[in-house]
Amino acid sequence: MKQATDPMVSDLLAKAQSARVFAYAPYSGFRVGAALRTAQGDVYTGCNVENASYGLTVCAERAALFKAVCDGKREFSALAVVVDADAEDLATPCGACRQVLAEFAEDLVIVLGNLSGAVETYGLKQLFPSPFKLRTKES
Ligand code: THU
Repeated sequence: MKQATDPMVSDLLAKAQSARVFAYAPYSGFRVGAALRTAQGDVYTGCNVENASYGLTVCAERAALFKAVCDGKREFSALAVVVDADAEDLATPCGACRQVLAEFAEDLVIVLGNLSGAVETYGLKQLFPSPFKLRTKES
C-alpha cells in the first residue's frame, strides 16, 4: 500500500483526482479531491466545499469520510488526497481532518498527490500521533 506504483494506490489517486474536478472553491481557488478506501474495498470520494462564511468550508477529506459514514462504513484502510498542479507542495490533511479521520481509522495510510505526478505516503499516526479521545465514545 506504500508504493505509488501499487495499482491500489494508483486507483485511489486517480479517483481523488477525478473528485477534485467537483471542488467548489470560488474563494481560495484551491481545489482538492479525496478518495477513501474502506476495509471492504469500496471507495468514497470527496471534494472541498467552500462557503461565503469561510469557516463553514468542508475539506475534501471530511467530505469523503462523512459520505462513507452516512453509508454505513466505519473502517478504512487508505486515503488519497490530490491537489492542484500548480501547488508547490503536496497538501497534508489539516488538523481538523486529522482528528476526524482518527476517530475512525488511526492506522490509515495517507497518500498525497498532485497533478504533476508527485506522490508521498504517510501514516495518520505519523501525522497525528495523539488524537483527542473521549472516554465515553459511542460505538
Ligand atoms: N483543503 C482541503 O480540502 N483539504 C486539505 O487537506 C487542505 C485544505 C481545502 C479547504 C479550502 O477549501 C481550501 O482547501 C483552501 O484552504
